[in-house]
Amino acid sequence: MANTFPMFLLSLCLFSQFFLAKCSIPLSPALYVFGDSIVDSGNNDFLNTSAKANYKPYGIDFPAGPTGRFTNGNTFADFLAQYLGLPFVPPYLGLSKAQKSKTITGMNYASGSAGVLRKSGKIVGMNLELQKQIEFFQATVNHYLPKNFKNKEELSQYLSKSIFVVEIGINDYLANYLLPTYYNSSHLYSPKQFSGILLKKLKKGLQDIYNLGARKFLVFNIGPIGCTPALVYSQNITSGCAENLNQLVSLYNEGLPNMLQELTASLNGSTFVLGEFYQASYDLNQNPYKYGFTNRSSCCVVNSATSQCLQDVSPCKDRAKHIYWDGFHPTQHANYVFATGCFLGTTQCTPLNILELTQKH
Ligand SMILES: *[C@@H]1O[C@H](CO)[C@@H](O)[C@H](O)[C@H]1NC(C)=O
Ligand SMILES: *[C@@H]1O[C@H](CO)[C@@H](O)[C@H](O)[C@H]1NC(C)=O
Ligand SMILES: *[C@@H]1O[C@H](CO)[C@@H](O)[C@H](O)[C@H]1NC(C)=O
Ligand SMILES: *[C@@H]1O[C@H](CO)[C@@H](O)[C@H](O)[C@H]1NC(C)=O
Ligand SMILES: *[C@@H]1O[C@H](CO)[C@@H](O)[C@H](O)[C@H]1NC(C)=O
Repeated sequence: MANTFPMFLLSLCLFSQFFLAKCSIPLSPALYVFGDSIVDSGNNDFLNTSAKANYKPYGIDFPAGPTGRFTNGNTFADFLAQYLGLPFVPPYLGLSKAQKSKTITGMNYASGSAGVLRKSGKIVGMNLELQKQIEFFQATVNHYLPKNFKNKEELSQYLSKSIFVVEIGINDYLANYLLPTYYNSSHLYSPKQFSGILLKKLKKGLQDIYNLGARKFLVFNIGPIGCTPALVYSQNITSGCAENLNQLVSLYNEGLPNMLQELTASLNGSTFVLGEFYQASYDLNQNPYKYGFTNRSSCCVVNSATSQCLQDVSPCKDRAKHIYWDGFHPTQHANYVFATGCFLGTTQCTPLNILELTQKH
């Protein structure tokens, strides 16, 4: 099969990632990010919520320090931006109107605690649910981006070559279905019904993003929540993961691939790549040594009620040996493993990896 991508450029990009530099020629004009705290780059700094990561030790390995990223360094989205040769994707809420008008390399609408459903995660304060994130993208397309393009055709071309990441759904379980004291969803719906509701709503959201011009999508399934230190702890698991909780999100994950295939088939010119967050993350938990990890407990010292890092308390020193940074979120090193597998590998992002997705016409 002909591979038209210049390999010297790829090695340059891969090489440069170790120095937090940018590739000289981007592989895609922009990266747009939708989702929750796994990929939030600081939107929640601007919201009235306790789901914030704008204090130490968050960002301890990030050059700018704490920025609202829910990890010690780069998120998955940061690594992906680097691989694409793009600058880090700024949080939409952190940009002035003038900055929004000039930003053409992508924006990040992701928000810690947000879910597919509007109510999910709201018990800890405000967040940008998926629908709200799409409204902001709509404003981006209709109001801010056109100033940078000669005509509609040019804008459409740009959008069709850009990469759209959607990483959401975990909070619909953690901060909705699994909190029967605050949410009645588990009384109203069986696990199977609830996963169906989420998938239907997500599908509508993806169609809306397509209708605004997006063509190249990367959509993540939900990670093994039962392996997170927070739930391992709360379920009194002494070894392994809380498999009953993993099974709950697996219902959603089982329905997602078909839905993405249907969308690729029905939406002209679209490609929906599935991001296998569950399998990749489960494998890290089962075989940590394979990836250089030795420790499955959280690196920072967490508040046992929120599972977020305690402010100003020193975290572990050997951060690259930990899969989890706090009670729920992967460390920078785990994000690097996911991003590398998704960009270049053959199993984490299917049926195309992201490098192949950028080359698709
Ligand atoms: C922030 O949210 C809290 C809790 O919901 C509320 O009591 C407070 O008034 C809010 N603050 C602002 C500035 O809206
Ligand atoms: C579920 O709870 C919401 C409030 O959180 C309420 O508006 C709704 O009526 C409840 N639904 C049912 C069927 O009880
Ligand atoms: C975990 O153990 C504690 C103390 O032994 C107990 O109170 C709690 O109910 C247990 N939780 C679960 C989910 O079994
Ligand atoms: C699909 O889009 C292409 C342009 O991208 C167009 O030429 C073609 O007619 C479209 N097909 C359908 C069925 O709409
Ligand atoms: C794992 O990390 C925690 C937190 O830093 C630490 O207390 C524990 O000793 C580590 N366990 C192993 C086996 O290294």
